[in-house]
Amino acid sequence: MRQGVAMADGRELLRARFGMDVPGAEVPDAIAGLLDRRVVRRYTDQAVPDPLLDALLAAAQSAPAKSDLQQYSVVVMRDRARIRQVADWIKTMDWIATAPVFLVWCGDMRRGQRLCDLHGMPHANNNLDTFLNTAVDCALAMGQFMAAADAVGLGTCPISYVRSHIERVSPLLRLPSGVYPVAGLTVGWPAFRRPVSMRLPPSVVVHRERYDDTALADAVGAYDERRRARDPVAAGSLKNNDVYPSREGVGWSENVARQLSVPERFGFAAYLKTKGFDLA
Ligand SMILES: Cc1cc2nc3c(=O)[nH]c(=O)nc-3n(C[C@H](O)[C@H](O)[C@H](O)COP(=O)(O)O)c2cc1C
Repeated sequence: MRQGVAMADGRELLRARFGMDVPGAEVPDAIAGLLDRRVVRRYTDQAVPDPLLDALLAAAQSAPAKSDLQQYSVVVMRDRARIRQVADWIKTMDWIATAPVFLVWCGDMRRGQRLCDLHGMPHANNNLDTFLNTAVDCALAMGQFMAAADAVGLGTCPISYVRSHIERVSPLLRLPSGVYPVAGLTVGWPAFRRPVSMRLPPSVVVHRERYDDTALADAVGAYDERRRARDPVAAGSLKNNDVYPSREGVGWSENVARQLSVPERFGFAAYLKTKGFDLA
C-alpha cells in the first residue's frame, strides 16, 4: 500500500481537488485514493519488480473492452538506454529518463484483422468507429493500470508526446500496420508527489438529464480565480509564447485557448493512413 501519505478525510480531498466545497458529496474510503491521485514526474532508482508489473498489467487487462474485442496492445520498455532515447527525442521532459519502466499504450486494429484472416473472413471494419474503439479500449486499460499503480504507491504519468515523435517511436517499437501509439506512460516509485491539480467544478462537467453550458463563462471565471490563488500559471507553462505575448496573470482558461488556437500534431491523420487506417 502507499507509504507515508496521510489520507485526509473526504471533504478535504474534495476541497483539494476542486478548490471549494462540494456540498452533498460523501467520499467512501474505497475511492479516497482516486480523489487524491496526481501524475508523478520524477522517480527514485528503486526497481519495479517484474511480478508486480505483471500484476498491474493484469489489472489493466481487466478493464472493459468494446464488444470484448480487446483492440489494444502495450509495449513494455525497461531498457534504460531506449527509454533515454525517447526522452532525448522529446527533449523538454528529461525526467522521463528517470523512469525504470516506460509503457507505450497502442490502439490495435491489426489483431482483429489477423483473426479475420485466420478464420478466412474479410475484415470489413477499417473505419473511424474502429479507430475510436481502439483508442477507447486502450485508454480504459491505461487508466486502470494507473489506478492500480497508484494503489500500490507507484507513480505514473501519461506521455502524449510520443505522438509528437511518432516517426521515430513507431519504428523503435516496430509498430506494424494497424497499430499506433495512444500515449506513453512512465512508471516508477515517486521521488516526490506534486500537489493535487485543481479540477473544473462538477457543475461545469457533470450535466443533469440534459447538456447545459449556459453558466460556463461565470463558472470558469471563478475557477480561474481559484487556480490563480493556489497555483498560478507559471511563465514556463504558458502555451505558444511565440504566437501570444508572455505576460503575468494568464489564467487556466486563457492558457487552454492559447494551446487550442494553434494546430497540434496535424500530421497524425497522415501517419494513421501510412499505418493502414481508413478514417472515412
Ligand atoms: C492522454 C494524456 C497525455 C498526457 N501527456 C503528457 C505529456 O506528454 N507530458 C506530461 O508531462 N504530462 C502529460 N499528461 C499529464 C497531464 O498533464 C496531467 O494529467 C494534468 O496536468 C493534470 O494533472 P494530474 O494528473 O496530476 O491531476 C498527459 C495526460 C493524459 C491523460
